Order: sequence, then C-alpha cells, then structure tokens
Amino acid sequence: MDFISVIEDKKSGRELSKEQLTYFANAAARHTVPDYQLSALLMAIRLQGMTPRETADLTLAMANSGDMLTPDVGGVALDKHSTGGVGDTTTLVLAPLVAACGGKVLKMSGRGLGHTGGTLDKLESIPGMSVNIDEQRFLEIVRTVGCAVAGQTKELAPADKTLYALRDVTATVDSIPLIASSILSKKFASGAGAIVLDVKTGSGSLMGSLEKSIDLAKTMVEIGTHAGRNIRAVISGMDEPLGSHVGNALEVKEAIDVLSGRVRGPLLDVSLFLGCQMLLTGGLVSSEEEAMLKLRRALKSGAGLAKLKEMIAAQGGDAAVCDDVSLLPQAPVITDIIADRDGYLGGMDTTRLGLVGRNMGAGRVRKEDPIDPAVGFVMKKRIGDRVKKGDVLCTLHARTEESAAEARDGVLGALRLQDAPCPPAPLILALVTPEGVRRF
Ligand code: URA
Ligand code: CA
Repeated sequence: MDFISVIEDKKSGRELSKEQLTYFANAAARHTVPDYQLSALLMAIRLQGMTPRETADLTLAMANSGDMLTPDVGGVALDKHSTGGVGDTTTLVLAPLVAACGGKVLKMSGRGLGHTGGTLDKLESIPGMSVNIDEQRFLEIVRTVGCAVAGQTKELAPADKTLYALRDVTATVDSIPLIASSILSKKFASGAGAIVLDVKTGSGSLMGSLEKSIDLAKTMVEIGTHAGRNIRAVISGMDEPLGSHVGNALEVKEAIDVLSGRVRGPLLDVSLFLGCQMLLTGGLVSSEEEAMLKLRRALKSGAGLAKLKEMIAAQGGDAAVCDDVSLLPQAPVITDIIADRDGYLGGMDTTRLGLVGRNMGAGRVRKEDPIDPAVGFVMKKRIGDRVKKGDVLCTLHARTEESAAEARDGVLGALRLQDAPCPPAPLILALVTPEGVRRF
C-alpha cells in the first residue's frame, strides 16, 4: 500500500478502509513510514475527523500493534482511566476501596504529562515502592490483595507510543477520534474486562467544553461496547484541582487522609462515584445504592486503608506511611500565600496551576527529567469560597526560596478573586453508559 494515497484520501474527506487504518497503525508501531508522513495523516484526521467505524477500526489496529494480554486475576479485571487532571488522586483512593469490596483492580498507570500528574510518579514518592513489577507478580498481587498499580509490563499498543509523541509536537492532541483510539487501544491491549473512564472537563482538562467531553465519552463508550467490553464514562469537573493537594508525596498524603476518614470533600465524592461505576461494570453489585453502601462501609471500617497498606507492602513500599504521613518526603521550604483583599474565589486557570507544580519540580519539562517527590502546593480555598484579607489561599512546599517565590507569582496569576459571590464548581456533570447520557 502507498501511504501518500492514504493521506490523500483523508485530506479529501474520504473514509479510510480497515486495511488502510491497519497499515497506518502498524507503520507507526514499526517505524516503517517516516514521521512526517505519519504526522501529515494525523493532521488530516484532526481536520477531517473520522466516522465511528473508522475510529473503532483504528483503535483495534493500534491495540493489535503489540502484545495483547489476557490476565487471569480471579475475576473480572477492573480498570479506570482518567483523561488527566490536576490534584486528580482518585486511583489511590478508589483502587483500595474497590478491592475492599471484592473487586480485582488491575491498573496500569502512566507518568505525568504536561500539566497533569501521573499515578506512577505519585506512588514512587513512597519509600521503597516499586512500580516496575513483572507481569506474573503484578497479577499475583491483584489476585491476592485485590489491587495493584504499576507501569506497563509488556509492549502494549506501541502504535500509540509513536503517535502520541508525534501528536504532542504537531498540535494534533485535541482530536476526539485520536484521543479515543489512544486511550482505548491501551485498555484493550491490557485485557481490561470492565472499564470506567473519567473524562475531565473544565479549565484543567484536555477537551475544555462539556459538550466536547460528552462527545469524547460517547465515542469511547460506543467503541468499547462494540468490542465487547463493559464500559461507562463519568464526566467530572476540572475547573479547579480535584483534591486540595498538588504534588507527588502531597497527593499520596491526601489519599491516605481520605482513606483514614480524616478528610472528606470532592476527592472522596468523585472517588466514590467512580468506585460505584467500577463495581457496577464489574457486575459485583446490582444497583448504585448497593455499591455506594459497600464503598462507604469499606471506608468507615478502615478496610480501604488496610488494602492500600497491603498493596504498598506487596510492591515493596513502606506501608508505615499510612499510619504516619510524616514518613513521606517533606519539602524544606513551606510558606503560605496570603490574600491581600476581600472577595470570592471566582475561578482559576487549572492548567496554569498544574504547570506551577511541574515547574516547582513535581513534574517533568523533558521526558528524562527527574521528579522531586516532596514539592507542590495545597489549595486552601475552592471556587465559590469567601476570601478575607489575610486568609491563606495556598501553602507552598518548595525545594528553595527562589522556587517558592516563582510559584507564588504563578499561583496568584492563576486565581481570579472577585467581588460578587459565585457558586462552587460542579463535580460530576454526566454519566455516559451504552444506554445513553444522564446529566446531573
Ligand atoms: N490520554 C491518552 O492516553 N491519550 C490521549 O490521546 C489523551 C489522553
Ligand atoms: Ca492521571
């Protein structure tokens, strides 16, 4: 097949055949077509779009471009995937809670990307914790503990690896068919039996608008259902960081605080809602009410926290952090940002806040950069909160005074204080299942 004609077809708005899309995925995985031609096709797809049939064929071709796992975890392998956010620590809260309710959570996570954090980087802030475990051990932990979170064990969807890197540098990330095929190809390859997607919307999200986020969710639920997976998607708000803590050890601390019952709020609420959907897709409960009851019981009894301890210990980490969060890495410079006027917190640029954390050292500017596990910040106000002059808006945890000063300007520049009162930001906006869209 001639790759130029594939580009020509998409450029002219013609539908690509399954053979053409398979050729594209394999060429990306094996580097048999130069990057500039792959990139040209990505841009043509970004501008012309794809039909549901094309998106489904591309997804399956990308999944089949590498290893396809069929994990035996002693039950339905449950997976949850977020499109990426700031202070988005739901995995660390809900994987242990769902495991405590009898679920088998097999979670292959990623590193931080751009302004968003990555679960693997967060877990590595726990002393001794390993996220590079071999497949046999990974499955054994899922079977015995009920949850494990680690990096990819095999070469899953290598086509996505090539295409994602090209999209990042050719302004072709924001395409529904390309995002859907990227996310689902990896889920199909990892052998997930039941998939819950957390599609973020708002100022810190990939898609921005609610309608686009719902379109993305509908596309993914349709493809997943067509491929025989139990799948549903939650649309959740990312107009502000979900938890109050942003940074690797800080987010682990917040997950422990939530699981130990010390802290409530949006991170817990969204984690419970997602956990509910996981128990439902896995067929472990028959109603949302039953799921919520089980999850709340696991929280209250401490069974969720006990599962997190078991998982940390099984992956070589120091589970004592769950009883004493001061064992997590601590930043040397801790300083408050104080409000210099009265008002209400009207909104924030969450992507910018995520970048402040990244620039403090919580994330990477280049792929090979090291992470500073201790740094980040804790938001003390949420959208809609009344602010009085002298109130603490945010506490910085920095490596140096200089970094704290830079972060201070960044955080202040991302917050919008206003005179008029305003409502809190919405948390759960919609649920997309094969049956349709439920808006809240
Ligand atoms: N996450 C992915 O894995 N792929 C995308 O394209 C976007 C978010
Ligand atoms: Ca994430």
